[in-house]
Amino acid sequence: MYAKKVMEYFKSPKHVGTIKNADGVGEVGNMKCGDILKLYIKVKDNVIKEIKFETFGCVAAIASSEALCRVAKGKTVDEAEKLSNEDVIKELGGDVPAVKVHCSFLAIDALKKAIKDYKK
Ligand code: FES
Repeated sequence: MYAKKVMEYFKSPKHVGTIKNADGVGEVGNMKCGDILKLYIKVKDNVIKEIKFETFGCVAAIASSEALCRVAKGKTVDEAEKLSNEDVIKELGGDVPAVKVHCSFLAIDALKKAIKDYKK
């Protein structure tokens, strides 16, 4: 059902965890299934230097969290703010089952919240 990249990111995510003294934290939940995603960012010189996630969710949500971290890391805050769910799907090889696309939105929503938190 899932593409190779989705399974790879689900099985071996490199960005799972928390960041102590994070500059921004974003937490979002999916009302339909109750899954939760918490994203932490560390910013230096306006660049996202570190990014970690804790996701209590399905395969697509975890793989999307990992994909989002890979896409956002090293970007300036302004560049990261312009990322969309399409960038996450692209990082996943462009192949997320239609019924699971809503799960992938958790990651991008959490990033936007973390950036908002950082800017406060
Ligand atoms: S089923 Fe809950 S995020 Fe995918």
